[in-house]
Amino acid sequence: MTDIKPIQFDGEEQSNEVRANILQQEPFAIRTFTPSQCVISHSAGSYHYTPEGRKLADFTSGVLVANLGHNPVSWWNRVIDYLGLEAIKEGGEYAKCVPLTAYNAITEVESLANQRIIANLQAAPGGSRINQVMWSASGSEAVQKALWAAMKRKPGKDMIIATRDGFHGKKGLAGAVTGSEHDKERDDRVRFISFPKAECDDVETRKQALDLAPYQQELDQLWEEHGDRLCCIITEPYLGGGGSYHPQKEYLQLLQSFCREHDLVFILDEIQSNFGRTGPMYAFSHYEIEPDIVLLGKGLGNGVPVSAAVGRKDIFECLGYGEASDTWSANPLSSAAVLATLDEFESTDALAKGAHLAGIIETGLVRLKETGAISKVRGEGCVWGIECADLGDREGATVANQIIEKCYLGENDSLAIHLLGALAGKVLRISPPLTMCPNECQSYLDRLYEVCQQVATG
Ligand SMILES: Cc1ncc(COP(=O)(O)O)c(C=O)c1O
Repeated sequence: MTDIKPIQFDGEEQSNEVRANILQQEPFAIRTFTPSQCVISHSAGSYHYTPEGRKLADFTSGVLVANLGHNPVSWWNRVIDYLGLEAIKEGGEYAKCVPLTAYNAITEVESLANQRIIANLQAAPGGSRINQVMWSASGSEAVQKALWAAMKRKPGKDMIIATRDGFHGKKGLAGAVTGSEHDKERDDRVRFISFPKAECDDVETRKQALDLAPYQQELDQLWEEHGDRLCCIITEPYLGGGGSYHPQKEYLQLLQSFCREHDLVFILDEIQSNFGRTGPMYAFSHYEIEPDIVLLGKGLGNGVPVSAAVGRKDIFECLGYGEASDTWSANPLSSAAVLATLDEFESTDALAKGAHLAGIIETGLVRLKETGAISKVRGEGCVWGIECADLGDREGATVANQIIEKCYLGENDSLAIHLLGALAGKVLRISPPLTMCPNECQSYLDRLYEVCQQVATG
């Protein structure tokens, strides 16, 4: 058993007590490690507030969830309208509004959410193959359901190609297609192919042309060995949890052509990238590809747990009644949240705001390399990874933790920044809400520069 001590900071009595209690009440396994373990009492827009009243800029959007910021009032009002929650104000013992569960039944809000999400996807360049929605509650479940459908499409064809070092979740088949053949007990139905990490390990490297020949060769060899059993390829537009590697678009186009040539299902996991993260509503537009199935999650409900596999009806209909059902899929609260989020994207300039912010973030992050604490910078739109350098006897992972802690503490109680624990050991994720005020974002990027300088010299 590991002896874990609660994270504690001077002057944070309330937060410290909560941290200590949580460590007793919950196994620490349900959280990923972060040296700050921020206790949040409330959040508004791009900011979190601690129980002590400290304000932190959220450079994470939850974990790429609150793309529109936390608790936008117009968004909440839409959720309330879709659920008919105004009825609560009439009092009485029960309010006559949309139920929160409709298992084995259908609500109109679900049907409307289907209609709207399909229309939104079909209007996006590359979304024309998508004509059905298979709802679920978490990212891993959407991955699993999509793979189940692809594996049932042709008898005997149950083998999956996944990209090495990807992240698709931890449960079931989602876990089986995550990482690589080297770091887990192997599911014999999964084969991993290389992802061009070295060729896109920095914004500068990514500008160079990609040699596709070795990747084509790997695919051809797999086909030779397992062509009679392969059913699909699953990949991400960029390796998110794997350390923010954003490939040249030709790589994804190669995977798509291979799928088309051999009649395999091309599954793109946009759980992290959907709803504006890379610039357009969906990353497939940006990468000029047209997947058969797209996986949605995180930002899809702007904070309400909801996910979906969206894609070709003929593939989804390979599953029989009940094979993809569960308690929470298509629950009315999640449908209302998706509708409210779509409304906000379709009727405001959230995407344009994100595009403007993207330029500020890129410039601010590339500048961090001057400090020596950051060795590589990669990303696009409002999703970036900064790789921490090894500094003397301090490895990149230690440097990353020092940056997170200093950012959390801020400077004389101001300009504090909330960051996620490092990805892939030493990569810090920078992914503020698309709606963060550009000038404020600039001030926090300047603060991050100062922190990196202090860590590099300290
Ligand atoms: C690309 C991608 N796919 C799938 C998942 C899994 O989602 P969940 O944690 O909701 O199961 C994640 C989560 O980080 C992700 O980034």
